[in-house]
Amino acid sequence: MHGENPLDSQILLRFWQLDRPAELIRLASLKDPDDPSVELQTAVARCLNHPLTRQHPPGTVKLLKQLLLFVEREYAEVAEELALCYTDLLLQPCQDAKWMYKTYCYGTQHSILEQLLDNSTQKSSSHQEGVITLRLSQNMFEGSTGCHEWEAGFFLAEYILNHPELVRGKKALELGCGAGMLGILLQRIGAAGICLTDGDAQTLCNCLHNLRINEAQGSAVSTKQMPWSSTCPERCDVLLAADILYDPEPFPVLVPLLVSILRSGAEAYICTTVRQIATFELFLRLVHQSGLKAEEVAVSSHREWPVKFLECLPLSDKSQHIVVHRLSTAGAKQ
Ligand SMILES: C[S@@+](CC[C@H](N)C(=O)[O-])C[C@H]1O[C@@H](n2cnc3c(N)ncnc32)[C@H](O)[C@@H]1O
Repeated sequence: MHGENPLDSQILLRFWQLDRPAELIRLASLKDPDDPSVELQTAVARCLNHPLTRQHPPGTVKLLKQLLLFVEREYAEVAEELALCYTDLLLQPCQDAKWMYKTYCYGTQHSILEQLLDNSTQKSSSHQEGVITLRLSQNMFEGSTGCHEWEAGFFLAEYILNHPELVRGKKALELGCGAGMLGILLQRIGAAGICLTDGDAQTLCNCLHNLRINEAQGSAVSTKQMPWSSTCPERCDVLLAADILYDPEPFPVLVPLLVSILRSGAEAYICTTVRQIATFELFLRLVHQSGLKAEEVAVSSHREWPVKFLECLPLSDKSQHIVVHRLSTAGAKQ
């Protein structure tokens, strides 16, 4: 890969997702177990100088400080270039610790990463096939939880990337769209219409920002503030939702909303991180009682499909049980 080690791309991706300093140090140690400080500093300089980092900086000050402290404490003097980068970052007026950009890559193999590391083809726009940059909050409750990244969102995105026929040329509607990642992918896959809805105004505002920086706006894409207690604004062919079943309180309005959307001819794909089995079973019970059919179509323990998010931290926790259910009226009692 252009003379680069795959570890370089791993470090780049982990850096863009603000992984723990210990993990970046571990990766650098794989290249030089005796003294990882040189590899680490070279890799971090490469990450900092990447056009995408410059355009959408992750909240790197703290991460950089911890890495530089490690180098100084364990090995050697910090390279002047990195020390200058650190002081530059400190002097920037708007280092908002709460908000940050994170960049994710997906694809069939590491060719995208090769491209990202290749100086001759490095682009500064996140509108590259296989690359998504999101503005996210560190506070998981920001915007009613919609401004943070969630495992189920990534898993549903992977499921759709591997089954593009489910959305291509169709009108898609998302409930609880959060930061907008699925909407960006739907636009890239070629959905004919994309309506992204969420109950929270701040979340929709952040979602719009993310659509814009990923160049995913256009006449086919709309956003709408829509609490689940309201009726659905428009007809769709496919309904999508990720991580919307963590609280049973809205189920009495959510399930009738699903019923009304599906009875008008759509099918739904709902992806859930099963945190409380009782909550999830209650949802399935209500769905069945409403005359809908629910079938499990994917589970995170079998993530064996060709297109994947690479080095994706939200999907790296194997203890999380994430499932995708297909909901339909077909074969169910009316
Ligand atoms: C855990 S987040 C998931 C966001 C996104 N789907 C993802 O996977 O990253 C749940 C989302 O559902 C939205 N939500 C929660 N309750 C809602 C309600 N009653 N009506 C509309 N949206 C709601 C929140 O605002 C939030 O954006």
